[in-house]
Amino acid sequence: MTLQTKKSVQALQWTGNSLNVLDQRQLPDTLVYDDYNDAAGVFEAIATMRVRGAPAIGIAAAYGVALSVIQHFAVTPANWQQKVADDIVQLAKSRPTAVNLFWALEQMKALLGQSLTNPPLAFIECAVKIHTDDIAANIKMGELGADLLAGVKGVMTHCNTGALATGGYGTALGVIRSATQRQSLNVYAGETRPWLQGARLTVWELAQDEIPVTLLADSAAAWLMKSGAIDWVIVGADRIAANGDTANKIGTYSLAVLAKQHGVNFMVVAPTTTIDWAIQNGDQIEIEQRNQNELLPACYNKAGSLVSAWNPVFDVTPAELISAIVTERGVVLNPTEQGMRGIR
Ligand code: MRU
Repeated sequence: MTLQTKKSVQALQWTGNSLNVLDQRQLPDTLVYDDYNDAAGVFEAIATMRVRGAPAIGIAAAYGVALSVIQHFAVTPANWQQKVADDIVQLAKSRPTAVNLFWALEQMKALLGQSLTNPPLAFIECAVKIHTDDIAANIKMGELGADLLAGVKGVMTHCNTGALATGGYGTALGVIRSATQRQSLNVYAGETRPWLQGARLTVWELAQDEIPVTLLADSAAAWLMKSGAIDWVIVGADRIAANGDTANKIGTYSLAVLAKQHGVNFMVVAPTTTIDWAIQNGDQIEIEQRNQNELLPACYNKAGSLVSAWNPVFDVTPAELISAIVTERGVVLNPTEQGMRGIR
């Protein structure tokens, strides 16, 4: 079965014994893949945001564990499990918010306790399954989300939630892809400061698929909604709590507040691997703070500077501001803890 759409870019390519990672920091100017042979390399690729986006982070980490098994089973067959367990602990420290990372590592870790005739092959197969299951979930969500957009004229998205951020196809961008196959749609993308995932990645990815898109400064969103051009805001998620509170790229909460003010619907699209059933609400989600130098002009980046920067890279949108959470198991309208239980 071919799950990948013919034109979608691939963030991650498993070669059989190494992982090719598209360096997303260099897009859209340069399309270059780095080849990784061990878990330490994959850790670095995630932490430095060569690969980013919650599902893609989880998939990369799973391949990182497979690489660890290949390496340690060959070099230290007597205690390869301990070495792999150490690598799993390290991979879990690469980024804190996307729960897909911890979910994928748990799937791989579960294999460590099993008696396996061919451990490298078993771990590779598990990672590949995590990857292909994610693509299948995206395609299902694309259809379910597109059902909600019948007759809709304008949508706005935030960050990058496409093939670059997932196993392929995308979550929020997957819904937009599917919807544009059914109807004409005006697609707007916020630039997504400070990393510019919208300006560098989303508009590039849509253009690759020949889907027209209009880029706007994040601060222009209120004025765009006021114009009446937007019917739905559609975003992805890094972690969804049991009550539907959703952590996603910084600026998502602002868009949800603006959507409420302007009578615009708000859709979150994420596979169930993004739901953290262990936490009751969004207050329990760790929000990643990245280095202030990602924001701070270089002239202030010195000892004794009076200027510092605050750089949280996610925020939490309360469930009450969300019109629909779309997963591969179904759609939860006006999410509450009870409604979310229906897709558990
Ligand atoms: O910091 P990033 O680029 O990893 O953040 C990505 C996002 O916030 C996405 O919206 C989210 O991971 C969903 S991707 C399908």
